[in-house]
Amino acid sequence: MSTPSTLIVPPTGPLRGQVDVVGDKSISHRALFLAALAEGESQIYNLSPAQDVASTQVVLQALGAEIMGAEIAADKTSVRVRPGWRTPSGPLMCGNSGTTARTVMGALLAQGLGARLEGDASLSRRAMGPVVRALQGFGLRAELSQGHLPAHIVPGALRAAEVHIDNGSAQIKTACLLAALRAKGTSRITESRPARDHTERMLPVFGGHCTVTGSGVTVTGPQSLRGAELHIPGDVSAAAFVVVAASLIPGSDVTLRGVGLNPFRVAYLEVLRRMGAHIEITETGCMGDEPVGRVRVRAARLRGIEIPADWAPRLIDEYPILSVAAAFADGITEFRGAEALRDKECDRLAASAQNLRSAGVVVEAFADGLRITSGGIRQTALRLDGFGDHRMVMANAVLLMAREDQAEAGMVTTAEAMAISDPEFVSRFQSLGGLMSMAPVQPSVSVWT
Ligand code: S3P
Repeated sequence: MSTPSTLIVPPTGPLRGQVDVVGDKSISHRALFLAALAEGESQIYNLSPAQDVASTQVVLQALGAEIMGAEIAADKTSVRVRPGWRTPSGPLMCGNSGTTARTVMGALLAQGLGARLEGDASLSRRAMGPVVRALQGFGLRAELSQGHLPAHIVPGALRAAEVHIDNGSAQIKTACLLAALRAKGTSRITESRPARDHTERMLPVFGGHCTVTGSGVTVTGPQSLRGAELHIPGDVSAAAFVVVAASLIPGSDVTLRGVGLNPFRVAYLEVLRRMGAHIEITETGCMGDEPVGRVRVRAARLRGIEIPADWAPRLIDEYPILSVAAAFADGITEFRGAEALRDKECDRLAASAQNLRSAGVVVEAFADGLRITSGGIRQTALRLDGFGDHRMVMANAVLLMAREDQAEAGMVTTAEAMAISDPEFVSRFQSLGGLMSMAPVQPSVSVWT
């Protein structure tokens, strides 16, 4: 566990320059799972250094995979995966990672293995009922602790299934796809609100196939996958913090290189454009079946908009930072349809509302969204709560950087959580001219008399 830290954000001038972002977290999880399910070795370049992705590595290693190169190679982000599956000797520790916990349920079912799954305090509060119910169609037998982790997965009889996912969850879809790949017969997974499609795009790289139609995915199994070589694009969700900061801080001009431009992930760029942001996107190629390119952002005055509710699955990780953009925009921004935010690493609707209100912004909260009214944030010396949630910490850091009156440094608590998705957040901003630093929290000292 990382040292408890506070992020200190002193007054910042314009952000300028060109930067890379870390490898995409969602795509990295999938690359590791598919490599572990394939026959033969795989080589993965630019794997995300996120702690969540490390959780997937730990879980796959406990299940018998060999993952080499992460600690020894000069290029720390490239790993070789040699598959292997066995019943684990202890619980599978999923850490903070919902993608690890949900996806491994599908993988265990596909491999006919049982295990106990555990998570940290935050993951143990998140709902596991929906993924278990979807996988029960494929034969999963699981016991949850009142709908949560710890979970006990019992080896089950895998079968093809038709399953409908109505909450727009890519993690549940991925777990179902892994089960469907190994099941005999044709499975169909439909979604009311389509979620990110990285698994579908990656399958052919490992020699697998599925058919995607408007409302769902069809998979005929059993299929065997073969080891592959693949490059992970830069994480467009990590880029979002730079994009918003550069839009808000006058005089900024930043280019992000090698960023994944999957249509399910770039909706936030379209939202920001509609708010008046100056964003140029140049597609430069493909990694596997994922488009990649450059994103250039220059500072602009933003205005509030109504964000379409049916975009929610495509914006799900960007609402905290879009809420910060809204706090500086002229007029009102409203988004609805995002009830899934209440079950993320924290309740991100409540957390965003609390932080924005403490910065003097008028926020109305609904069960499924926020209505944010503001024209800027002027308070100094703000101390914002990161709620132990990586995206809340990083969104708050941008809010502090973009304040208009910056007489004193601001602070964000639980800053160590940033490593869950982006251990390079601080150094990337520093390289663009942003001043921020991490300070370890001193343990409180008790004095006995
Ligand atoms: C993810 C899917 C999303 C997202 C999460 C990563 C994935 O969750 O919030 O950060 O890698 O599949 P959903 O399962 O709610 O779509």
